[in-house]
Amino acid sequence: MDNLDSLVAGATADFAAAADPASLEDAKARYLGKSGRITELMKSLAALPPEQKREAGAKINAAKQGIEAALNARRQALADAQLAARLASEAIDVTLPGRARGAGVIHPVMRSWMRIEEIFASIGFDVGDGPEIETDWYNFSALNNPENHPARSMQDTFYVDMKDADGRLLCLRTHTSPMQVRYARAHVAKHAAQVASGDMPEIRVIVPGRTYRVDSDATHSPMFHQFEGLWIGRDVSFADLKSVYTAFLHAFFERDDIVVRFRPSYFPFTEPSAEVDMMFEDGPLKGRWLEIAGSGQVHPTVVRNYGLDPEQYVGFAFGSGLERLTMLRYGVEDLRLFFEGDLRFLEQFR
Ligand code: PHE
Repeated sequence: MDNLDSLVAGATADFAAAADPASLEDAKARYLGKSGRITELMKSLAALPPEQKREAGAKINAAKQGIEAALNARRQALADAQLAARLASEAIDVTLPGRARGAGVIHPVMRSWMRIEEIFASIGFDVGDGPEIETDWYNFSALNNPENHPARSMQDTFYVDMKDADGRLLCLRTHTSPMQVRYARAHVAKHAAQVASGDMPEIRVIVPGRTYRVDSDATHSPMFHQFEGLWIGRDVSFADLKSVYTAFLHAFFERDDIVVRFRPSYFPFTEPSAEVDMMFEDGPLKGRWLEIAGSGQVHPTVVRNYGLDPEQYVGFAFGSGLERLTMLRYGVEDLRLFFEGDLRFLEQFR
């Protein structure tokens, strides 16, 4: 019975070596199971003479209790370790800052879009909107840009594999100018009686929107934005164009030190035509002429395509690039930044 102490020590060591509950139960079976060491010792008591039975039985019982105590201690230790591991793996650092949903910012080009609508609304302009997929007639022919005319090559575009009623491929509009014709025709239809009697309410509209050309570099993107302006009435002159566009620039840039010049140019849909150039009198771009719009008095053929008599109705149109104005307003040097979706760039407009 001397080896009972080492039996308890052996069991304790075995339990300590069990790294998980399953191996601990295996180890337990080797001592306390049906044919475990303690169980076998208990059975062997039967063979002892009655006077030794009592003493031997007590010793075996003590050993059994020692083993059970070691077992329970190890069980508890394993359960504690398991719980500690779980707590550690599921730990939440409540002191970390929360993941709030980021508040978006309005894209700088959209900001210009909204500003432009506001400025023109304040001087009585309506805001128009129309299709980006356009027919050949509205994008070119109605604007006095006949088929095979060399002026068409000024605007190479993307075509859509689908034909219009004239059997011509649809295209992505190359400018917002087709909206002159769409808006004017709707206006004329709406005021047909007054058009006939010669006192149609004036057409005054601004049309911001997406436009497309086969172009891609630091100052051109295949998709870009323009806004068209159109003012048609009985006596709307080139002088009105100059004052409206110049006033717009001062309002848009919120500064007075802007010089504007109208440089003779050519567009099939205006006559006379002019490029609008502007120059800041101060700041980093001081003294540089910057081209910002095409403009002119609407060509009689186009007025006729509005459904109006060019002898009675005249006026001007202009078209500007939204990205260009936005770049100048915020000092952005590469137009591609507007379309890359880089938050580091966009967040600067918060
Ligand atoms: N549509 C012309 C362009 O995209 C600009 C323009 C608009 C010129 C209206 C004159 C009148 O280049």
